Amino acid sequence: MEPSNLLILLIIQVSSTFLLPINAATAKSALFREYIGAEGQNVTLSDVPINPDVEFHFILSFAIDYTDSPTSPTDGDFNVYWDMDNLTPSQVNSIKAKHPNVKVAMSLAGDTIGDGHHVFFKPTSINSWVRNAIYSITEIVRKYNLNGIDIDYEHFKSDPDTFAECMGRLLYYLKQNEIVAFTSIAPYEHDSVQPYYLALWQKYGHLIDYVNFQFYAYPKGTTISQFMRYFEKQSSNYRGGKILASFGTDGSGGLSPQNGFFTACGMLRKQGKLHGIFIWSADDSKKDNFRYEKQSQDFLASK
Ligand SMILES: *[C@@H]1O[C@H](CO)[C@@H](O)[C@H](O)[C@H]1NC(C)=O
Repeated sequence: MEPSNLLILLIIQVSSTFLLPINAATAKSALFREYIGAEGQNVTLSDVPINPDVEFHFILSFAIDYTDSPTSPTDGDFNVYWDMDNLTPSQVNSIKAKHPNVKVAMSLAGDTIGDGHHVFFKPTSINSWVRNAIYSITEIVRKYNLNGIDIDYEHFKSDPDTFAECMGRLLYYLKQNEIVAFTSIAPYEHDSVQPYYLALWQKYGHLIDYVNFQFYAYPKGTTISQFMRYFEKQSSNYRGGKILASFGTDGSGGLSPQNGFFTACGMLRKQGKLHGIFIWSADDSKKDNFRYEKQSQDFLASK
């Protein structure tokens, strides 16, 4: 090959390598996320409708640094507690192969384990927790071919600075070594929870891609204007963050689709503040045939 032709070929290859991912990313700015697998409903990834015009994240729920019998914390050594019969590594690979817009993450901790025991963040030391977490999470991510991680501790036997340091160092390692591509946190409005996530955000917010704020943890019957105020408040708490709008299909609180959730999302979108929507959870939506998953993705895909 002539050197000049070779040069042109190189330029074409280099520019397509750089340009294609950018185009692909801008084409799917609408993000839909859904927690799945925590409630033993035998729900599978292929049960959930997937709109090709959104970026879709499944969040497997949960990996927990606990062990069974007796139920006790393990200082950062995570085990899989989602529905392992129905959410397997081969199903993760097959849903991703079938739907190029799908990525799969896992969430850490959650509210309870077994028959209602609270899951506590209870490290022995920062160093030991981080070491164990890096090792065990890397194993799970590789086994299941996961793309991201979500942090959802809701109960603490530790102080906010220790929590921030453990999570921050974990996220730094996982991103720096490209073990995961994206990260999120899942706080809610409560004095026993927010100080931990705000401490994490203050020091390590640059490592967190999305804030899965649990707006469904507000009281039932939340109105559109209350929701808009809550959204503003959390946007200033997690300043510069991509705060996602959310609701539950489990009969929990917050602004429901029936009471105007999508009207509120339309207002946020007009203001340029709608970064995406997430739902808790696929397990609860199965009985209604995922009608709100469809509606959410149709809403996000329509401009
Ligand atoms: C889930 O599947 C298992 C095994 O087939 C079955 O025993 C169980 O009753 C199912 N649970 C639900 C909620 O469908």
